[in-house]
Amino acid sequence: MAFFKSSTRDVPETRDIPKHIAIIMDGNGRWAKRRLLPRIEGHRRGVEAVRAVIRDCAEKGVEYLTLFAFSSENWRRPQEEVSLLMQLFVLALEREVVKLHENEIRFKVIGDLSRFEPRLQQLIHDGERLTENNQRLTLTIAANYGGRWDILQALNRLLAEHPERARDFTEDELAPYLSMAYAPEPDLFIRTGGEQRISNFLLWQLAYSELYFTETLWPDFNKQALEAAISSYQSRERRFGRTSEQLKEHA
Ligand code: IPE
Ligand code: IPE
Ligand code: MG
Repeated sequence: MAFFKSSTRDVPETRDIPKHIAIIMDGNGRWAKRRLLPRIEGHRRGVEAVRAVIRDCAEKGVEYLTLFAFSSENWRRPQEEVSLLMQLFVLALEREVVKLHENEIRFKVIGDLSRFEPRLQQLIHDGERLTENNQRLTLTIAANYGGRWDILQALNRLLAEHPERARDFTEDELAPYLSMAYAPEPDLFIRTGGEQRISNFLLWQLAYSELYFTETLWPDFNKQALEAAISSYQSRERRFGRTSEQLKEHA
């Protein structure tokens, strides 16, 4: 497995187009409410925005796109909404995985999948298997994902594999057990829907990501909105702890 350097241990190479974009797709419910539609209609329109953002990112040469679809806290929603979301997830996988494969997209899911019904788990497994050798873009869906869960599952697996050493583990030793060990850390984090919080998304991996928040509700997030986010990213100075003067010396 490719192993990517950690932003707190090394200064990563940066480029004009972010290599990895991670998005909290928020605002589906409000999008629907404004139109006097049921919340699930907002989620349906959200799936269309997902399709578009995958295409636009692939065209721009983004290599990793990670989308937060369902958090470990979203089970707290009304049971009807949770079950409609699960149905939508199944439907989207049934329809889209083959298209992802045709477009050379590698599909991955991170999160605790054990709580999902067997049919959904099977679709995820089959989709990952089918697309595992695709190289154009890696699409990761975070489902029943929580940043704290991720760090703890990594720690527990690390300890289970090294029972003889109960202390003094390093960051580099933990990193391979995190659920996104196959990807570099996100360069650009986007949250739609106006809230300015992380909501237990990739806590470890966002250490040095550039954060971008927009009022745009997820179903309205289009190519122009993506370009605005990338353009904001391009105006940032990524110092990784160094001074601005140091960066200019190396330029
Ligand atoms: C994000 O949209 C989708 C999920 C969390 C599944 P929301 O459903 O949170 O939409 P708002 O925030 O209520 O508008
Ligand atoms: C975050 O959105 C999770 C997803 C987009 C899947 P939420 O709508 O659940 O976040 P909070 O509750 O407003 O923080
Ligand atoms: Mg929300």
